[in-house]
Amino acid sequence: MQVSAGKIVVLGTGGTIAGKAGVAGDNIGYVAGQVGVQDLLEAVPGLAQAAQGPLVVEQVAQIDSKNMEFAVWAALAHRCRAHLADDSVRAIVVTHGTDTLEETAWFLHSVLDARKPVVLTCAMRPATAIAPDGPQNLLDALAVANAPGARGVVSVCAGAVHGARQVQKVHPYRVDAFSSGEGGPLGWVEEGRVRLAQDWPQAQAGWAQSALEKIAAGAPWPRVEIVMNYAGASGSTVDALVRDGVQGLVVAATGNGTLHHALQAALERAQQAGVAVRVTTRCPLGQVLALPWAEAALPLASGLIPVKARVSLLLELLGAQPPAR
Ligand code: SIN
Repeated sequence: MQVSAGKIVVLGTGGTIAGKAGVAGDNIGYVAGQVGVQDLLEAVPGLAQAAQGPLVVEQVAQIDSKNMEFAVWAALAHRCRAHLADDSVRAIVVTHGTDTLEETAWFLHSVLDARKPVVLTCAMRPATAIAPDGPQNLLDALAVANAPGARGVVSVCAGAVHGARQVQKVHPYRVDAFSSGEGGPLGWVEEGRVRLAQDWPQAQAGWAQSALEKIAAGAPWPRVEIVMNYAGASGSTVDALVRDGVQGLVVAATGNGTLHHALQAALERAQQAGVAVRVTTRCPLGQVLALPWAEAALPLASGLIPVKARVSLLLELLGAQPPAR
């Protein structure tokens, strides 16, 4: 075994990968975020060998990721930033719940200067399952952490490696629960080796690092909510949110950014009242195309899915300048 210089830091945040069920055969009736990350790692045969060097473990949180909070994001990003700046660390692995993994991935991608790999991994079955998927995902995450040239915020689940921008949970039960949509995954992990279909994400400083600094200095997180267009939609939710002090609204529009006229009118009222509005589509693939002949009344959210557009808008409202796309 070749031992690489530098350590890999594993940051635990909970999730099903750390979940426990009362009955071993139960893959859905469990409680997420129960097993400490140190114990999780110790239960994986061959993990020390797969790490190819020293492993350091930190429990940043122990939650079901449906309950993800800004405070956990801030703590996780600060630990990642400290470890990325530490020359003795060569990679970071984050254990995370699957339910909001794509949001955390996009948040970390946006606020970090990740010239080393930051690899999020997870599981769809609890640690107590008869055939848990977490151990293999952990081994695969270490394979990605050790892959030559690996960099940026990526995630690994069921043998597929996904970039932070593309990754999305697309299935509520299947072990292979994530997709990168039309572009496909960055690559795959096969028997401990990474086979790339695309290059690693560009080594670029996160566009929203200044937002992280503001949060560290005590700036409050803005309030950004998501609304959706559908048959019979009205503007009343938007009007209520504006009355309630919302600062940003992301709308999951139908098709190519279309909105029921009542919802459109309410969003335009919200925008005139100073609320930042961004339009995305509820379609799972593709992105809204701007009409070349008309100025849109409401700005588009640069091709992101609604939950990631919300993360970007949160960071924008904290003063970060989004990259032009
Ligand atoms: C969670 O997101 O924490 C629970 C669900 C999962 O990890 O699959």
